Amino acid sequence: MSTKHTFTALTLALSIILGGLSQSDSQKYNRIEILPSDQRSGDPEAGFNYLVNGAYVHSGIPFDAFGSFLPKDSTNILNREGQSAYVTPTFNLTEHDNGVKLLTPNCLTCHADKINGEFIVGLGNNSFDYTINTNAMTNMLSMVIKQRFTEASKEWEAFEAFHKSSSALSDNITTKVRGINPADKLTSVLVAHRDNQTLEWLDKPALEIPEKTIPTDVPAWWLLKKKNAMFSTGIGRGDFSRFLMASSLLTLKDSSEAAQIDKQFPNVLAWINTIEPPKYPKDINHELAQKGKKLFDLNCSSCHGTYGKDESYPNLLISLEEVGTDPELSKAYTDGLYSNFVNWYEDSWFAKGSHPGKIVIEPGYVAPPLDGVWATAPYFHNGSVPQIEAVLNSKIRPTYWSRTFDSHDYNYEKLGWNYQRQESKNDNQTYDTSLEAYGNTGHTFGDDLTQDERMAVIEYLKTI
Ligand code: HEC
Ligand code: HEC
Repeated sequence: MSTKHTFTALTLALSIILGGLSQSDSQKYNRIEILPSDQRSGDPEAGFNYLVNGAYVHSGIPFDAFGSFLPKDSTNILNREGQSAYVTPTFNLTEHDNGVKLLTPNCLTCHADKINGEFIVGLGNNSFDYTINTNAMTNMLSMVIKQRFTEASKEWEAFEAFHKSSSALSDNITTKVRGINPADKLTSVLVAHRDNQTLEWLDKPALEIPEKTIPTDVPAWWLLKKKNAMFSTGIGRGDFSRFLMASSLLTLKDSSEAAQIDKQFPNVLAWINTIEPPKYPKDINHELAQKGKKLFDLNCSSCHGTYGKDESYPNLLISLEEVGTDPELSKAYTDGLYSNFVNWYEDSWFAKGSHPGKIVIEPGYVAPPLDGVWATAPYFHNGSVPQIEAVLNSKIRPTYWSRTFDSHDYNYEKLGWNYQRQESKNDNQTYDTSLEAYGNTGHTFGDDLTQDERMAVIEYLKTI
């Protein structure tokens, strides 16, 4: 080998070693690449049918007692058949094993909402009001059912599991502002009340229930097909269907019922993976958007990926130090608030068998795909920022802000909800970013852009 070649080989080897080292070090600290895990395949059509008609929640409100409680739906937006056609889209009409017809809450309670008056399945619900303790409602329902049918009735039998879990949840899942979701806490209450092998209900919780309720924004379903991990903390790995079906913990009888329900969820996942984001409905300035694309590719795509013809998505978990958004949700997993719940899961029915769900805890937040992001306000994992303009300029983010919760009150230029700045939190409709876990710091990646550049990036975001 000539000297020249030896030298080249040496530098090559050195650069691989050094390059490799520095890359993995920086990745360890700031950006972790999330790798894919195997998923079961399914039939999307069967999945949608199960989603809006299936009995994955098998106990609920007896249909005959419902008239006075639930609004009737005359639009049949889900194209359901028979009596189901009149049922509000967030409930399924199902039948209990004992034959009683039931209204049971479905996934759309949290995974659908309106924008500009249009009901969009898969858009995270950002208007539901969890500030209200539902105890009074649960008590009223149980009183009516007892009075009308008695506690010895089949109706009560069909309602009982729902009653027990609703009572356990009611004062445990309130949030401090409207529009944000307590799902992680909800899950931790439900698992505390279940044996992790038999999955049977325990009247007395076997685990300590965390005191805090850390709020989360609900991600849009159309993003999941690009993601290698579920949830903004990226903890959901392994078989996704196992996480999807965890909603049945609300009323599940036992692990053999879980095994039945589990067979259906690959179909639901297959359907979720067919959903496309809604198109931006107004005019787009394509010249400006083209300028925005260049800025996006330079400043944003290393984390959020590229869109259009050469689509790519890097699946990165970004460290808390680098992204700087409110750390509490991530810390709830890394620092122990949810450790009971995680330990329960890791040794449970859900983490066993030929397609286990896996929880992987690493600090940071997933940099999400931004398809259809124009429609998914408010922003960040805790919904603390009302508009994308403010996501891209941390200095203009409002500390206290309120909105009308009228789905028509949307800002198509700044992309997000029209809002009013407030001096303080005067009611539950006012988002208060000074509360623990509700903070709006960080993600300063757009701060150095000029206002014109920012508006160009926003124009581009309308196209993806
Ligand atoms: C009580 C509200 C609620 C219900 C009911 C609910 N979800 Fe969710 N879901 C959430 C929240 C909140 C998150 C985000 C949690 C986070 O990121 O920490 C989420 C996350 C998800 C995700 C992951 C999205 C992503 O991109 O990471 C999927 C998929 C999902 N839910 C599917 C379902 C299905 C299917 C059902 C019904 C079987 C269901 N959910 C029922 C609130 C709910
Ligand atoms: C270093 C990686 C990184 C860079 C660079 C980056 N982002 Fe982000 N971005 C993130 C992470 C992580 C989140 C999620 C933060 C959270 O939820 O707390 C996020 C969230 C967002 C959101 C909110 C998404 C939602 O649905 O809530 C938008 C919009 C966004 N980024 C746009 C941009 C734009 C535009 C740029 C370029 C100017 C950019 N980002 C640069 C990592 C990055």
